[in-house]
Amino acid sequence: MLTVATTPEQAKQVISEWKAQGLTVGLVPTMGYLHEGHESLIKRAVAENDRVMVSVFVNPIQFAPGEDLETYPRDFEADKRLIEGAGATLVFHPEPADLYFPDACTYVNVEGITAELCGKTRPTHFRGVCTVVNKLMNISQADRAYFGQKDAQQLAVIRRMVRDLNMNVQVVGCPIVREEDGLAKSSRNTYLSAEERTAALVLSRAVAEGQRLMEAGERSAATVLGAMKQLIEAEPLARIDYVEMVSWDDIKPVETVDGPVLVAMAVYIGKTRLIDNFIFGE
Ligand code: PAF
Repeated sequence: MLTVATTPEQAKQVISEWKAQGLTVGLVPTMGYLHEGHESLIKRAVAENDRVMVSVFVNPIQFAPGEDLETYPRDFEADKRLIEGAGATLVFHPEPADLYFPDACTYVNVEGITAELCGKTRPTHFRGVCTVVNKLMNISQADRAYFGQKDAQQLAVIRRMVRDLNMNVQVVGCPIVREEDGLAKSSRNTYLSAEERTAALVLSRAVAEGQRLMEAGERSAATVLGAMKQLIEAEPLARIDYVEMVSWDDIKPVETVDGPVLVAMAVYIGKTRLIDNFIFGE
């Protein structure tokens, strides 16, 4: 049976009972409106831990003014069904006022690795992500926490935070889950009109083209990125935010590939900003 905790105290109560029995805990942090990508994280967490807490929380401090905080899709009843079906037994679903003290003055700021990619156009985003993830890790006392590779920079940033702060949690990265036609699953896909949904396939086509070139031996970032950008720019509804190649361990721009790299993009399809990526040479 699924227990719903709406305050940190309620969640901590359940977790402390688990910990008293010596059980391991997996954490799957989400913003809700769950899809098969989240489901794959929950199922993996269930397979690797005795108990799993899923958080469903649209975290206001990771959105900048003018972003989609108010319109971010929400359907908690459907989320509960998916979470229970995937085998988790605790869902943490606080209101912002339950999680953030009105006079809170502590934030987690990971530097350097947040400077490129999404950090350039969303300069306060990772501070919000790291602060909430840190709080969720503390509340859940998780042994393992699960994140999708679709948000690859987020995964790298959280790994770095956990390393730098000597946190007792293992960060587990999980593969991107795609629709049959290639579009990476995202709660934001729901914003797309039918025409935009078709146009959005340009992201996964660009990923496939970049992968094809690199698997064929291409090692120049300019050549790989040039081919990907050309493909995206041919789609009238697409507007590039960035298409970049960075080192996978520290998210620094790369000119010639000589180690594991992340090739990542953010592209507006109409008003909707979508991301996609691949990792090469890991
Ligand atoms: O990836 C997300 O959905 C969010 O950034 C996360 C990790 C749940 C933090 O709010």
